[in-house]
Amino acid sequence: MRTQVGIIGAGPAGLLLSHLLHLRGISSVVLEKRSRAYVERRVRAGVLEQGTVDTLVEAGVGERMLREGLPHHGIELRYGGAGHRIAFEKLVPGRAITVYGQQEVVKDLIAARLAAGGDVRFEVEDVALHGLDPGAGTGPYLTFGGERLDCDVIAGCDGFHGVSRPAIPDGVLSVYERDYPFAWLGILAKVAPSSEELIYTRTERGFALHSMRSPTISRFYLQVPADTSIDDWPDERIWAELKARLESVPGFDLTTGEITEKGVTPMRAFVAEPMQYGRLYLAGDAAHIVPPTGAKGLNLAVADVRVLTEALAAYFADGSTALLDGYSDACLKRVWRAQHFSWWMTTLLHTFEEDDPYGRRLQLSYLDYVTSSEAAATTLAENYVGLPFDTEL
Ligand code: FAD
Ligand code: DHB
Repeated sequence: MRTQVGIIGAGPAGLLLSHLLHLRGISSVVLEKRSRAYVERRVRAGVLEQGTVDTLVEAGVGERMLREGLPHHGIELRYGGAGHRIAFEKLVPGRAITVYGQQEVVKDLIAARLAAGGDVRFEVEDVALHGLDPGAGTGPYLTFGGERLDCDVIAGCDGFHGVSRPAIPDGVLSVYERDYPFAWLGILAKVAPSSEELIYTRTERGFALHSMRSPTISRFYLQVPADTSIDDWPDERIWAELKARLESVPGFDLTTGEITEKGVTPMRAFVAEPMQYGRLYLAGDAAHIVPPTGAKGLNLAVADVRVLTEALAAYFADGSTALLDGYSDACLKRVWRAQHFSWWMTTLLHTFEEDDPYGRRLQLSYLDYVTSSEAAATTLAENYVGLPFDTEL
């Protein structure tokens, strides 16, 4: 079997890449370890940057997102007994975010690929990469479940725990990483949001985030210790803690209800450089992870895939490799901007055990600055809604 681009992973990165390549007349096969039902149900991110929304619309897969997604023109920072709005419409006119679940993006992309006759294979076992070494006698190829797929190029879109990055020989990659001493406990609840906009809350008990998915479904996150087991968090305890953290301004009442999903996500930052080796190109979480406070993970995956699509289109048009050779450099500037923003938002809003009273004062001072200075608020706003793709970072 042969295709132009062998794609490992049917997350947002792999599926969008396959779709964008199809629009350019380039063939691909997507190999996914999990079932279709599993990837369509996996609850993860929910905030789409302006550029992500524009990309999906331009690619013809934004119709349901435009209908069902919730455009937001601001967020609230809540701390010290008061809420402060960061107003996107004033600070970054014309740019906003859309709240739309990652699994809905995944569903839309799978539907589009299958409608176009795309080759997306689920429950594929034992994917392995071969012929990556630029000096190897063969071109690259993938093996899985007794089959062989020859390709011109392999795209490793298989997330942080995938097989693509580990297939690169030792000594090639430089890894930069940071583990945080806390995790996020996330829930989905069948309850109307208690606020029109997202609330990022800093309290002495830790961080909490009120997000949503629809007028009847809310999403919440709580900062918890890194080794937290979900079994220690019965529903009543989760609601009590959310109330204790979010009901920190007078008159705010959190509506509680049935919890339909819950999980604990570790917080880590990770970058592997370069994001390529031979004819293997890594995109999305396969190459980099950010702590979720800045809502950047999914959006970065989309940005990588845009760059890779342009580079592959040039390569398949006339054999030119300049854009492919520069793929990693072209992506990493945005990746590092997102790393910094995510670290900054995390540091601003979480409680750190090692924080002394001096550290806490610094945190509150910075929050006061961000919520009172238009220059500082604009820094937050322009990063949160996402810098334009053509920004010279
Ligand atoms: P993924 O979505 O991870 O997709 C990779 C795909 O590859 C998966 O479908 C996987 O099953 C498949 N795969 C893995 N190994 C193999 C293999 N060997 N063979 C074949 N297929 C394979 N970001 C936010 O902004 N906000 C959040 O709240 C948030 N929550 C998150 C919660 C969790 C538990 C995780 C893991 C991530 C979260 N993120 C969040 C990050 C965001 O969801 C990711 O950045 C985004 O999913 C990246 O997309 P991707 O396509 O690169 O990787
Ligand atoms: C959501 C996730 C995030 O990481 C974030 O910063 C904001 C919202 C969400 O899942 O809705």
